[in-house]
Amino acid sequence: MTAELRVGIVGLGWMGQVHARALSRLTQHYTDSPLRPRLVAVADPADDDRTERAAQAFGFEHQVTDWRELVARDDIDLVCVTGPNFIHHDVAVAAARSGKHVWVEKPAGRNAEETAEIVAAVEAAGVQSAAGFNYRNPPAVELARELVATGRLGTVEHTSVRFVSDYAAHPDGALSWRFQNEFAGSGVLGDLVSHAADLVRYVVADIDELIADRATFIPERPEARPGAMHYERGAGAMGAVENEDYVSALLRIAGGSRGILEASRSAVGEQNTYGIEVHGTTGALKWDFRRMNELQVCLDQDYQDAFYATRYATPGDGELGAFQPGANNPMGFDDLKVIEARRLVQSIADGKPHGATIHDALIAARTVDAMIVSADERKWVSL
Ligand SMILES: NC(=O)c1ccc[n+]([C@@H]2O[C@H](COP(=O)([O-])OP(=O)(O)OC[C@H]3O[C@@H](n4cnc5c(N)ncnc54)[C@H](O)[C@@H]3O)[C@@H](O)[C@H]2O)c1
Repeated sequence: MTAELRVGIVGLGWMGQVHARALSRLTQHYTDSPLRPRLVAVADPADDDRTERAAQAFGFEHQVTDWRELVARDDIDLVCVTGPNFIHHDVAVAAARSGKHVWVEKPAGRNAEETAEIVAAVEAAGVQSAAGFNYRNPPAVELARELVATGRLGTVEHTSVRFVSDYAAHPDGALSWRFQNEFAGSGVLGDLVSHAADLVRYVVADIDELIADRATFIPERPEARPGAMHYERGAGAMGAVENEDYVSALLRIAGGSRGILEASRSAVGEQNTYGIEVHGTTGALKWDFRRMNELQVCLDQDYQDAFYATRYATPGDGELGAFQPGANNPMGFDDLKVIEARRLVQSIADGKPHGATIHDALIAARTVDAMIVSADERKWVSL
């Protein structure tokens, strides 16, 4: 019989529930999974009945309000760190120190220093880690990475990565933890740029150097009710937004190619406009999260007047075969987290990492910190 992986989840909001669903579905998609997750405990201090109802719906065996109680249990092997950014460091470090594997949402710490401390705790304990860089996981992105790595585009010349959204576009959007540095660390930098920077590394190569600019377009917002999601409207007194709504950057990428990165949380008309374009000497590709299962490819033609074609992800690409029997049966966002769970469980079983880890989260955090220095001091910064 397959051994169990006993799971505790800290923070049962959007991401906590997505992690819980992913772990619950894991063995349905991967019948060869070396471990079978069991949802043992959840910690969330929210005093509405939403958490209670979610905990019951997912079938957690124990529900507590204080994460320390969950981390102290000796019947948990893996802790999902899915609360607001300001608890990630303390929860992940405590969990690793007590010998538990950790699956930490991005941004892992509020800055590179906190993230490095999580890395140190994970390494010292010899546990496995996963970081929430789910945009690595679509089969079409895996295909893009493969096309770049095998030279199908020739030598990469330039990359454009955009993570643009409207979740904070409404001026009455609640002043939740995301807009205050003590709780979030940074604004769209930690939230979306960490994904964008990781995607550039995954598909193309490491970012060596950058120059960035940032702006806060909505400087005040109405206070949020306790536990408000970032999609809600606020109704209280106006308070200051402490971090950036928008970031743009020029990138110098390992191997000599160049890049442009743009991210926004307040772009009217944009919902999850997340994607990457890569241009090489002989070909090009484009991926857009909103059409997640498609890759636009421009390959094997002449230098000029070449055209793009749509390549649908097929069961041979990435993990598509674990979800759908044929091309053009679309996968969804939650499936990306099942793939993340698969890779983490594989890491735990093998004792060596598969998929994005806390080390990748540290590189993303250093990129974010470098952009803050660059924007504030108006200069190029090396990573
Ligand atoms: N990978 C992705 O694509 C992705 C998407 C969204 C969010 N995230 C990340 O996931 C994390 C959570 O974001 P979310 O959108 O799920 O937020 P959310 O507001 O929906 O949920 C956060 C939950 O944490 C709980 N919480 C607050 N303080 C807590 C504490 N001290 N102990 C335990 N629980 C606590 C809240 O009650 C709430 O239920 C953030 O770090 C965010 O950046 C990642």
